[in-house]
Amino acid sequence: MLEKAIEYAHHHKDDFLFQLKEFLAIPSISTLDENKPDIQRAAEWVAAQLRGIGMHNVDIMPTRGHPVVYGDWMGAGDSAPTVLIYGHYDVQPVDPLELWTTDPFIAEVRGDNLYARGSSDMKGQVIASIKAVEAVVKAGGLRVNLKWMIEGEEEIGSEHLGEFIKEHKEKFFADFCLNADAGIISADEPAITTGLRGLMYAELKVYGPSKDLHSGLFGGTIHNPAQALAELITSMHDKNGKITLPGFYDKVRKLSNKERLEFKRLPGSNKELLQMTGAPALWGEAQFIPAERIGARPTLEINGMISGFIGQGSKTVLPAWAMAKISCRLVPDQDPEQVFKQLKAHIKKHAPKTIKWELTNLHNAGAALVDSDNIGVRALSKAFESVWGKKPHFRREGGSIGVVVQLQKFAGVDSLLSGFGLPDDNAHSPNEKLHLPTWYRGIDTFIHMFYNLGV
Ligand code: BES
Ligand code: MN
Repeated sequence: MLEKAIEYAHHHKDDFLFQLKEFLAIPSISTLDENKPDIQRAAEWVAAQLRGIGMHNVDIMPTRGHPVVYGDWMGAGDSAPTVLIYGHYDVQPVDPLELWTTDPFIAEVRGDNLYARGSSDMKGQVIASIKAVEAVVKAGGLRVNLKWMIEGEEEIGSEHLGEFIKEHKEKFFADFCLNADAGIISADEPAITTGLRGLMYAELKVYGPSKDLHSGLFGGTIHNPAQALAELITSMHDKNGKITLPGFYDKVRKLSNKERLEFKRLPGSNKELLQMTGAPALWGEAQFIPAERIGARPTLEINGMISGFIGQGSKTVLPAWAMAKISCRLVPDQDPEQVFKQLKAHIKKHAPKTIKWELTNLHNAGAALVDSDNIGVRALSKAFESVWGKKPHFRREGGSIGVVVQLQKFAGVDSLLSGFGLPDDNAHSPNEKLHLPTWYRGIDTFIHMFYNLGV
């Protein structure tokens, strides 16, 4: 049976790739209003796939934001486990477009990789779960009950998903939720993620004069908002890379010696980090190794800033305003809403009288720790061992996935976090790609996992 499913998957490699390309052609960017019709199209595309592999009750369910695609198959009976398969059909914006070698929405294979926005994060992972189930169904071997939740707001913080889950929680009860949005360490180092950071995202606007001014006529008498914003931002870290917001570290859970040893044992080096990022040197809290700084320490980042004249050539101007997008990655037990208040308190204290400012909280997601020993974890570990010839590493990751905490909180369901995205896949960056050999291995791994669960 297992062999039959694997054979089906290998036989249909090209079809799977073709369908992934079709999915990738839909520019389902969740943050942009102009892509709203594409969001709907992507949801419909996923729904059609679920129907196509024999799922029941497939439905595009409205939320207060973008819709959730639901489907289920409860044919394995009450005594069999129920797996909730999570995914997101939305993607990040593509800018700066000029840095892409090919069109982000016309997927192209170059060497071992498929290039397109969303290929790794996470349309490729969604297709991997769908195709693994398809192979198991076609081989007549599905022995677990399935539920699907494919959402469209992950890349903007899953803002409306929490209340949606709360409202429909019986629909999402399951033994665990398979979430392939977390990725692995490298093409030959599989991993299961046991923790994710949370996120608090804010926008800070600083206003000075009522209009852009001649910098010769007024410079030296009016506080430049771009400079004031830069000063405020600078005040948010000390010289050692520690964040200076009042009370910021109060709730940060300390790492035990055992946890620190586990971080130390993970593969990966400073050199690799430098290579992957192209940065000239590393930065951050020196008393923690990079894996700890990514997995278990909070950050404050400037995602972007804008002010004044940024066109070609020069213009002598004192801008009227400046804006920065500021976010904090959070760790247990920090509360995003409280961190927003801390940011506000910091700005209140440091903002000079020469400017006005406005701070808006765009979205929040809590940090999560998940169960690292349950039927799902065991089934997936065994599957990795069979397909990759080695046990997965267990590690905490730096990204955020809103649904993980929401499912714990509102439905009591824990997530099994993994997937086949690689750290050098350029997620959120130009030339995002999917490593195809890893993707195909991933489909095999999920097939094994479903069989491991069903016996
Ligand atoms: N796939 C990522 C999350 C991720 C990244 C998990 C790296 C583990 C390692 C996900 O699609 C993502 O990017 N999420 C956003 C969420 C945010 C907008 C709340 C993120 O982390 O920036
Ligand atoms: Mn992402």
